[in-house]
Amino acid sequence: MRKINVFDTTLRDGEQSAGVNLNFQEKLEIAKQLERLGVDIIEAGFPASSQGDFASVKAIAQTIKSSSITGLSRSLERDIETTWEALKESAEPRIHVFIATSPIHMEYKLKMTPEQVIENAVAAVKKAKKTFPEVQWSAEDASRTELPFLARIIREVIDAGATVINLPDTVGYTTPYEIGQMFRYVTENVPNIDRAILSTHNHDDLGMAVANSLAAIQNGAGQVECTVNGIGERAGNASLEEIAVALNIRQDHYKADTGLTLKEIKRTSSLVSKLTGMVVPNNKAVVGANAFAHESGIHQDGVLKNKETYEIITPELVGVSSNRMVLGKHSGRHAFKEKLMELGFNGTDEQLQKTFVAFKDLADKKKDITEEDLFALMTEATVGAAVAHYELETLQVNYGTTNIPTATITMKLPTGETVQEAATGSGSVEAIYNTLERVIDEEVLLMDYRIQSTTAGRDSLAEVYVTVKYDGLESSGRGTAHDVLEASAKAYINAVNRTINRKQFNEQQRTNPLNV
Ligand code: KIV
Ligand code: ZN
Repeated sequence: MRKINVFDTTLRDGEQSAGVNLNFQEKLEIAKQLERLGVDIIEAGFPASSQGDFASVKAIAQTIKSSSITGLSRSLERDIETTWEALKESAEPRIHVFIATSPIHMEYKLKMTPEQVIENAVAAVKKAKKTFPEVQWSAEDASRTELPFLARIIREVIDAGATVINLPDTVGYTTPYEIGQMFRYVTENVPNIDRAILSTHNHDDLGMAVANSLAAIQNGAGQVECTVNGIGERAGNASLEEIAVALNIRQDHYKADTGLTLKEIKRTSSLVSKLTGMVVPNNKAVVGANAFAHESGIHQDGVLKNKETYEIITPELVGVSSNRMVLGKHSGRHAFKEKLMELGFNGTDEQLQKTFVAFKDLADKKKDITEEDLFALMTEATVGAAVAHYELETLQVNYGTTNIPTATITMKLPTGETVQEAATGSGSVEAIYNTLERVIDEEVLLMDYRIQSTTAGRDSLAEVYVTVKYDGLESSGRGTAHDVLEASAKAYINAVNRTINRKQFNEQQRTNPLNV
């Protein structure tokens, strides 16, 4: 069985998804979960791109011990130096340095000749090798690169010290057959290839990212780059859970495995979905809500007689529980804490207290508290809250089919002062948002609003995801509450608070730049 290294880029390429902006605490929480899942390498960000990325990569590098941490870097001396500053305290630091190698990228984007690109790539790898024990080099747009040129530049960067060679299908253009040919060509035509691990990184524009990753593995790739739920730029990246489960279920065919703790997959997927606001489609392979639902009579009958008639993956393999009731109204703090620990909670005492209060409040309204409920409360209390510039204190909505919906809100302002406002709207949510806009005193454009329930049942928690444009920046936000209107208000305030945080980071970067 070949061991395939998993390189997770949810926090870098995944975070490049439109509308996704994770804050520092959320990135750290995702990194801890990736470590629990057992990924070999976590690409924590692009340290030279912003002060915010630098700070979160540094914190992740200081915290995570069992996975290697890496950061993306252009082939620029100052990028490489900044990346080292962010990663030097990591247990196993590595850099991911890249340059484009396809004719179209070299001519139009880089405005460099192929010789200049080789020179630049070699210089970058040599510079990186002075500080980093592991240097990964990527040929951006490799799948549209001329193969003899690709083989030549790979040979030179390996001679310069690169230990991992990544060949991305940057634009999601290639096919499983072609990517297999590319990996085979490189294996057969780069004389020093035995001194490096080959890696594959695929985008999903034509819906072939996972198939391409598997074809690359069959043709020599020893590392696969992917994101949780397949999130990423445009149509996204190859999905981690699909690759890991395909290799596991079809070991007979691929004779390769990732060694991931597969029962952590569902939790990882839910965490990333909640924190990014990117909802997992019901029919998504492995982690979708319907992935294990047998609807037709013939299928149900078959499964009852023998599960294997229609079920090739068991829900238990990837940690899908039957969402059983775990706690109730009379559960005490001790049982509550134990359950949270079991679910991977490692927040502070203050966060534990906050979650316990929210749990008691929910238990008053909802009979059975499930793992999904606890997970939603926990996410909200530990990582969900942006630094609260604006805080909701009270909300009252007056709605009837024959009157004009009116909301009255009491809010704490960033100055510490408490104000009360009221406004009407054509519906309750609009009335709330019109009121909030008055308090916030600036136009807030609502770009997207989505609502879903945490569990089945009419007493479920509500989760609202919004995207707003405020003060020139687009930000997502989310809110969880027992009531949909309260969740709507919380999501909106969360998005505004997150925008203010980002503004503050940007301002900090302007006054104390990283020279990128
Ligand atoms: O898709 C791509 O080419 C990338 C590289 C920077 C590795 O993400
Ligand atoms: Zn990419």
